[in-house]
Amino acid sequence: MVKINENYLKLKAGYLFPEIARRVNAFIAENPDAPIIKLGIGDVTEPLPAACREAMTVAVKDMGDRQTFKGYGPEQGYGWLREKIAAHDFQSRGCDIEASEIFVSDGAKCDTGNILDIFGKDNTIAVTDPVYPVYVDTNVMAGHTGDADDDGKYGGLTYIPITADNDFVAQIPTEKVDLIYLCFPNNPTGAIATKDQLKAWVDYANANGSIIFFDAAYEAFITDDNLPHSIYEIEGAKTCAIEFRSFSKNAGFTGTRCALTVVPKALKVTTSNGEEVQLWTLWNRRQSTKFNGVSYIVQRGAEAVYSEAGQAQIKELIDFYLENAAIICKELKAVGFDVYGGVNAPYVWVKTPDGLTSWDFFDKLLINCNVVGTPGSGFGAAGEGYFRISAFNSRDNVHEAMKRITTAFK
Ligand code: MLT
Repeated sequence: MVKINENYLKLKAGYLFPEIARRVNAFIAENPDAPIIKLGIGDVTEPLPAACREAMTVAVKDMGDRQTFKGYGPEQGYGWLREKIAAHDFQSRGCDIEASEIFVSDGAKCDTGNILDIFGKDNTIAVTDPVYPVYVDTNVMAGHTGDADDDGKYGGLTYIPITADNDFVAQIPTEKVDLIYLCFPNNPTGAIATKDQLKAWVDYANANGSIIFFDAAYEAFITDDNLPHSIYEIEGAKTCAIEFRSFSKNAGFTGTRCALTVVPKALKVTTSNGEEVQLWTLWNRRQSTKFNGVSYIVQRGAEAVYSEAGQAQIKELIDFYLENAAIICKELKAVGFDVYGGVNAPYVWVKTPDGLTSWDFFDKLLINCNVVGTPGSGFGAAGEGYFRISAFNSRDNVHEAMKRITTAFK
C-alpha cells in the first residue's frame, strides 16, 4: 500500500496566503463589482527596475546566439553574480563573506524550507510568535513537530512571543535549542533588531552549539544606519548562522525569482560519531543534486541590481514603499489605531480595534471597506488581535484604502 507523508495531515487548513485568496475570491464571486484593494500578501506592484529589464533583454539575445548561448549554469549561481553579491551586500559592510559561500537560488521561501534537508530530525527548534508561516509548516512537513493544539501551536516547537508587551523583542530562550529562526526586519510585525540584540543571539548560539537561520529578505528597507543588515555584521556569526536574502522585495523579483543563501565555510557541526562536518559541503551537495540553478537571464537581471543605475532604481522603489508604509501608519494612528512597524520595514502591524479577533477584523475590512490585509493570527497564536497591512501597492491604492478604513473606523 502506498504511504503518504502523514505529517502533512498535521498542517492547519491551507497555507495562509492561499487561504486568504480563497476567502477573497469567494467574496468577489458574490460581489463582482467590489473595488478590492489588496494589502495582504507582501507582493510588489511596481515594475522591475529598468536596469534589470535591460540586462535581461541583453541576456535573451545572448541565448539566441550559439556563441553566447548558455545551457545548464552552475547550481550555485554564476560567479559574476556571486562576486557582486559578496562585495556589495557583505564585504562593503565589513562582513567577511566570500563569493563561494553564496548560493544563488529561486527564493528565500524555498531555501528556508529546503535547508531542513541537511539537518537531522531530532533538533529542538525555536521560532518567534508571530512568525512567517513557512518556517513552521516546513518543519511540520519534515516531521519535526507534534500535532497542533487549539491555538495552532505545534508540539515540540519553542515559541518566542514578540508582542507589544515585550516591545517586539525576541527574548533569548532559557533552555537550549538547536535551530533558531530569526527574521529582521521582521515579517510580519515590522520590528527590527539592533546589533546588541543580534549579538546576544549569536553569543547564545555559539555557546550552545545552535544554528541561527537568519532571514534578511527585508534588509533593504533599513534606513537607520545603526541597524545591522546582515547577521554577519555581528562578530561570531560565521560560526553559527545561515543567512537568507532575496531580490523579491528590493528589486521587485517576486515573479522573476532570484534569491541567495549564505552558508559560511566556518559553520561546522559535530556528527553523532564525533566527526566535524562543514554545513557548506552538505548544502553544496544538496543544491548540486536537487537544483539546477536560476536561469541565466534572471541572474543577469539580478546582477544589474548592483550597477549604478540599478542601485539608484532600487532605492527609488524602496523609498516608494517606505513612503506608503509611513502613510498607512500616519492615517491609522490619526483615527486611534495602535500601530507598530512600518519604519525600516514594509509591513505595518496593527492592533485590531474593539477587541476584534484578527479574522473578524479581516472580514470587516473586506466587507465594509473592500480592503484585504492579513490576519495576525495566521502568523501564530501571539498574532491574535493583530493585523498586518502591507505597504506593497500603488500610492493611489494606499490612499484609497486608508480613506476607506479611516472613514469606517473613525
Ligand atoms: C508575505 O506576505 O509574508 C510574503 O510575501 C511571503 C513571501 O515572501 O513568501
